[in-house]
Amino acid sequence: MCGIVAYIGGQDATPIVVDGLKKLEYRGYDSAGIAILDDGKIEIRRAAGKVALLETLIEKNPVQGTTGIGHTRWATHGAPSELNAHPHLGMAGRIVIVHNGIVENYLSLKEELVSEGVVFKSETDTETIAHLIEIFYNETNDLTAAVQKALKMIKGAHGLVVMSTVEPEKLIAARLGNAGGVALGIGENEMFIASDIPAIMGHTRKIVFLESGQFAIVRRDGFSIHDLEGNPVKSEIQNIPWDPIFAEKGKYRHFMQKEIHEQVRSLSDTLSGRVDFQDYRIILPGLNLNKEKAQKIKKIFITACGTAAYAGMVGKYLIEHIARIPVEVMVASEFRYCDPILEDGTVVLAISQSGETADTLAAMEEARKKGATLWSIVNAIGSQAIRIADGCISMQVGPEIGVASTKAFTAPILDLYMIAVYLADLRGTIDRDRRLELVKDLLTVPSLVEKALENDRAVKQIANRYKDIKGALYIGRGVNMPIAYEGALKLKEISYIHAEGYPAGEMKHGPIALVDKDLPVVVIATQDPWYDKVISQIEQAKARSGKVLAVATEGDELIPTIADEIFWIPKTPWLLSPAVTIIPLQLFAYHIAAFRGLDIDQPRNLAKSVTVE
Ligand code: F6R
Repeated sequence: MCGIVAYIGGQDATPIVVDGLKKLEYRGYDSAGIAILDDGKIEIRRAAGKVALLETLIEKNPVQGTTGIGHTRWATHGAPSELNAHPHLGMAGRIVIVHNGIVENYLSLKEELVSEGVVFKSETDTETIAHLIEIFYNETNDLTAAVQKALKMIKGAHGLVVMSTVEPEKLIAARLGNAGGVALGIGENEMFIASDIPAIMGHTRKIVFLESGQFAIVRRDGFSIHDLEGNPVKSEIQNIPWDPIFAEKGKYRHFMQKEIHEQVRSLSDTLSGRVDFQDYRIILPGLNLNKEKAQKIKKIFITACGTAAYAGMVGKYLIEHIARIPVEVMVASEFRYCDPILEDGTVVLAISQSGETADTLAAMEEARKKGATLWSIVNAIGSQAIRIADGCISMQVGPEIGVASTKAFTAPILDLYMIAVYLADLRGTIDRDRRLELVKDLLTVPSLVEKALENDRAVKQIANRYKDIKGALYIGRGVNMPIAYEGALKLKEISYIHAEGYPAGEMKHGPIALVDKDLPVVVIATQDPWYDKVISQIEQAKARSGKVLAVATEGDELIPTIADEIFWIPKTPWLLSPAVTIIPLQLFAYHIAAFRGLDIDQPRNLAKSVTVE
């Protein structure tokens, strides 16, 4: 969940590392720190709170040097305080590290270290690693050997960078398991290291990703990668096409707002290269499928967390309806515990924006163990969820910085629709006419989203009227049922208002008891096959004095006579409607949180990339 940045070269490392940390703040943000090698000495600056506070501290007490490491933290062990902020020093102050992950055996390691006389300065698990490396260095006089030995002792998943006064000409970076990535950026006689590439993309596009079980020795003029035994490992340099401009807010107040509005472009990008306009076919080469393999698929298990899981729920409706393949959706944190039956012909499809979510990766590992075919839909280039899958669809939406996921929700809906059409086509479930109809519908989505976004001002006015609500119920049916979940999640995570999503038909089985004049009910009531049923649910809420906010299709004359407020969306093919009905709900949540003056891009207690289980 934390972010790491490091630099070694000829420039002043401080602004490079701090600037990188700012770009990574969305990963974790309760404290931050840097360590700079200044004339052979390690200088540390740390602050509880956001990177801006660290910057102020550095302004007052500047530090300069051409080698440095930095960290932005989301606390796991020990409160978010200056003392617990990274970097952490070994006892003799010659080794300093930044670290992502949890040392699962830290209590026993700490006990042992304390019994040997080591004095801990922080409550973190990370400090054990710094001490271990320092102790092993004392034994070997070799930093690389000391790091190797320490890496073998710590349990769990980790990403870390080590800097030292004893071998100041190098940094050592390592990755064990799935605690987020470690990427090396190659410059001209300078090298960068980051847990996530937006931190260094302003400097270089030449990137090498470390795999689990590898460490890199990084000097200003190059690097080498090794396995834990020290054997050299070949690496592939990737040229990353993302533009760093993506990571800027531009004219928007918040990244979330920018990302909501970016969805016209991100959805066009999602389709790009996937539609053969000659005969309206979908082509998804990343899945490595052919007719024969497609015929053998008996079941698809979709697994993901949070927003990505809700996109997966939409996918169930799409794939079952279009391709007629049974689909089960299971949140990734439960996947292992349900002891999934993954028989021959089962595909496990993971969805993840970051590609580093620990629960999702653990579910993928479980699926791998049980012999299922593994697919993933992932946004972050080079992430683990891409690398371990047999087939992958890249979301192609660019970096998502706002903690609340928006464009990485709508993109996988289209990806899942494309998977459904592609499978149906390969298996002969649909004929040419149906395929044409489905693909033509798909191509209309970006412009429908654009039209829905044009109603932003109207949504803002509604949000202004409802900004002081204490709670809300969201209901939807069929393919829009997961939109009720996602709409409620958006509201709760950024505005801290309690909101619950429910299948509309379940209202009468309990939640209707909550409805009174103070509980707004947000209803997705677009023109789809269950429209009439949803209307009767609106009537039931109205009969109990409930305030109804309906997402409705332009031109609907009935809704204005029964709903209190309306979020209009353009007429949309019903199977694809979730990619459009969610737009006003994202905007509604955004504007309510903005009216309340909240920290929208970095809501309390959350982090963008959840690399702990
Ligand atoms: C909600 C949100 C989270 C993520 C979830 C999975 O707005 O962002 O619920 O969707 O943590 O993250 P990824 O997609 O990175 O696996």
